[in-house]
Amino acid sequence: MARKKSTRKPAKSSVKKPKPVVAKVVKAAKKKVAARKAVSKVPSKRPAAKAAGGNGKVARATAHFGKLLQEQLARVAGIKRDEAWIDFSRISPIIIGVCGGDGIGPMISEAAQKVVEYLLRAEKAAGKVVFRTIEGLTIERRAEVRKAIPDDVLTELKKCHVILKGPTTTPRKGDPWPNIESANVAMRKELDLFANVRPVRVPEQNIDWIFFRENTEDLYAVGSQGVQVDDDLAVDFKVISRPGTDRIVRAAFEHARKNKRKRVTIITKANVVKTTDGLFLRTAQEIAKEYPEIECDDWYIDIMTAKLIDPKRRTQFQVMVLPNLYGDILTDEAAEFQGGVGTAGAANIGKRYSMFEAIHGSAPRMVDEGRAQYADPCSMIRAGAMLLAHIGYPDRAKRLEMALDICGQYEKKLVMTGRDTGATGPAFCRYVMQTLDDPNLETRWQGYQRRGT
Ligand code: IPM
Ligand code: MG
Repeated sequence: MARKKSTRKPAKSSVKKPKPVVAKVVKAAKKKVAARKAVSKVPSKRPAAKAAGGNGKVARATAHFGKLLQEQLARVAGIKRDEAWIDFSRISPIIIGVCGGDGIGPMISEAAQKVVEYLLRAEKAAGKVVFRTIEGLTIERRAEVRKAIPDDVLTELKKCHVILKGPTTTPRKGDPWPNIESANVAMRKELDLFANVRPVRVPEQNIDWIFFRENTEDLYAVGSQGVQVDDDLAVDFKVISRPGTDRIVRAAFEHARKNKRKRVTIITKANVVKTTDGLFLRTAQEIAKEYPEIECDDWYIDIMTAKLIDPKRRTQFQVMVLPNLYGDILTDEAAEFQGGVGTAGAANIGKRYSMFEAIHGSAPRMVDEGRAQYADPCSMIRAGAMLLAHIGYPDRAKRLEMALDICGQYEKKLVMTGRDTGATGPAFCRYVMQTLDDPNLETRWQGYQRRGT
């Protein structure tokens, strides 16, 4: 977009020193202003508005900020009420909601559902698990009602225990859609899915990482409610809370303890973003003391981003915990080692609800170019494996992961290229299901592991 040529006066710093005559005029003007200021000591009805030059922009921004603070304080109080974790062993039937989403979403979530349903066929037949399709989480519908999640869809989502969700289109300014909040972000907040857990494994390179990305705070907490103060000034808000940090850091350390991982790495930019990232780091370091058997180190996001591509250093990282935006960026970088975002799944975990998804977007270009059937369903199927583990079927989750490793990384009888030079999603899905059927699956997988390292 071409920029309008500025007609504004040059900035103060580039104005030459006034000449003596001009200086006199300036002095007189200053006196006038001082006199006016003295007069305006009389209390005004809108003092902040006056200070902003009478147009109320500061008053409006301040009022908006006040409202956000009230909402955030209420949210933090909610976290402190400390709800109990859902216990899937006591729930029957477990309701799995499936939302197709936008773009390639319906294709790849159908593939994931097929595989998960196949692995849970006995439970499904016995009525212990129910799959429920949830319609309406599409960009067309969201644009129509101008909501990130239409009310009726949210009501349906809340009737499920876990959700398998295809990628949804996130509008931005300039798109044909209204600039509404991302459905992902809204769902994470509405269902309080505070832990975004993203594993990345490349055995042949000794990479075995798991990221615990905080999922409800940071620049995302009120990301769609920043303030455009005037044409020249925009402000967004970064929100970090102690209870919000506490729960994600605990989740990371608990995972490390359960899985015998030796190190947890905290990632922030606390040297510059002192208040919010400072609180995140301090809180995390306090919690680390409760896990003396686990080594804890901290890194800044910039050098961390660099060190992920350092082959000597990167293999030392195991469990990483970090605020929302850094987690968003770093996990895309991390997934690239494994074969790209198309191969990585994510679990969005809350105490009550949870949602499983791909880490990538809805790829509308693939649909526009008629390539949707070539979309790689691996990320969604990996998300399906995480779902299985979460609801109490870790062995089946492990089998599915092994099948995915064999099909996508080792054996590669079919290769996904995103176009007609490779396999289609449904064909790849059948390949995964045939691999799952192999009674020697584990031995086969272990064979590749030995060869890889
Ligand atoms: C992700 C995605 C989302 C995010 C987008 C789609 C809003 O990039 O899940 O990482 O920024 O969290
Ligand atoms: Mg992302």
